[in-house]
Amino acid sequence: MAKGKVDALLGIVFGDEGKGKVVDCFTPKYDIVARFAGGPNAGHTIIFEGKKFVLRSIPSGIFDEGKINIIGNGCVIAPDLFMAEAKELEAAGYNLKSRLHISKRAHLILPTHRVLDRAYEAAKGKNKVGTTGKGIGPTYSEKAARTSLRVGDILENFAEKYAALKNRHEQILKDLHYTDYDITEEERLWLEGVEYMKSFPLSDTEIELHKALKAGKSVLAEGAQGTMLDIDHGTYPFVSSSSTCSGGVCTGLGVAPNAIGEIFGIFKAYSTRVGSGPFPVELFDETGDKIREIGNEYGAVTGRNRRCGWVDLVALKYAIALNGVTQLIMMKSDVLDTFDTIKACVAYRKNGVVTEDMPYDTEGWEAVYDELPGWKTDLTGLTSSDQFPKAFQNYIDYLEKALETPITIVSVGPDRAQTISRA
Ligand code: GDP
Ligand code: IMO
Ligand code: MG
Repeated sequence: MAKGKVDALLGIVFGDEGKGKVVDCFTPKYDIVARFAGGPNAGHTIIFEGKKFVLRSIPSGIFDEGKINIIGNGCVIAPDLFMAEAKELEAAGYNLKSRLHISKRAHLILPTHRVLDRAYEAAKGKNKVGTTGKGIGPTYSEKAARTSLRVGDILENFAEKYAALKNRHEQILKDLHYTDYDITEEERLWLEGVEYMKSFPLSDTEIELHKALKAGKSVLAEGAQGTMLDIDHGTYPFVSSSSTCSGGVCTGLGVAPNAIGEIFGIFKAYSTRVGSGPFPVELFDETGDKIREIGNEYGAVTGRNRRCGWVDLVALKYAIALNGVTQLIMMKSDVLDTFDTIKACVAYRKNGVVTEDMPYDTEGWEAVYDELPGWKTDLTGLTSSDQFPKAFQNYIDYLEKALETPITIVSVGPDRAQTISRA
């Protein structure tokens, strides 16, 4: 953490790496925590003192009462879901109103965006993306088409603007012959959410950040999703719709590249993916099932099974280069405690071609593995790196060497306390 800088914590694979947990752990060191991309498609889990929260749009720095949290301009926000999430935190005793700032430039997800999400998925037949159904794609599409509504729009003539956009959506849905939906109740809550949002500071968060950085404050940018779900660099078209990489921090918060400090890349000791799309390391056998069971790999937003496999060095090297990762954070190491051997994918192979570079078309590649001994030791109670069993230390050394980047934090359980620094 450096004064006057923005550090970024980014998921560098397919999301669900444990960003929420680590942002919560890091928050005491920072003045401001800011989300720069995505919306309620995210599900960030935080566990401490016997309590568990799953955050969607609200940054994971919210549990530290002294800190400002920002929902940046690169985010999309659904007022009804935001209201439900914020009220749950308020009911748990957290005071949000003065310290959760929302960018006026963030875009609004309408109820009809969610219907459009379902309609577009239905029309895709077997090529479905497997979206979270939160209206992410339709909202970002309209942002790019310059027809969307922003948070700042709720402050003036909103009823008119809303009706016009909703009509437009209804017309598109009619053209798609997708008319079997009823948003009456959803819309009531959504409009209530719009009013509720007005009780928060709706601000020019970009300017707030400029002033804070100039005054020497430190900012932590919290990623959502992961590098392989990035709209430009992920496994397109099986991706989300925002810039999840480090470049997205600049556009999604309005901060300059030279304001960026450390870039923490977070990954699991193995791999998961939720939704459709290529996943060369996917295991269809009992090893995959065992990782899912022990790792509790079910989606935090949709409850879907997460697809599981061994760690993927091809994807990690690609993500480290794309993001400029300066430090790695390895999560869920404890999930591999009982395995006799651990594998790591070092290359992809297709039709006799072997590559260590992420291919344009990731479909149809199979993984080439290295094999390492398992540690067969319960890591969950460990508190410092000098207690690591030798085989686990070997796994860390192997990854650091292959990835040419230090692993400075290792997580050995879901609780805030189960986090070990190696720095
Ligand atoms: P995020 O979207 O990146 O914030 O991650 P999610 O919250 O969707 O998924 C991570 C899951 O792993 C959550 O259920 C966490 O409680 C859990 N978790 C985080 N770190 C660890 C760890 O080191 N070990 C175990 N067993 N679970 C962890
Ligand atoms: P966090 O922040 C894992 C996946 C969806 C789908 C694709 C597109 O918790 O890591 P979308 O609804 O964004 O249009 O879906 O992206 N996806 C995620 N997978 N973690 C996430 O967020 C995700 N957000 C979206 O499953 O395959
Ligand atoms: Mg998640």
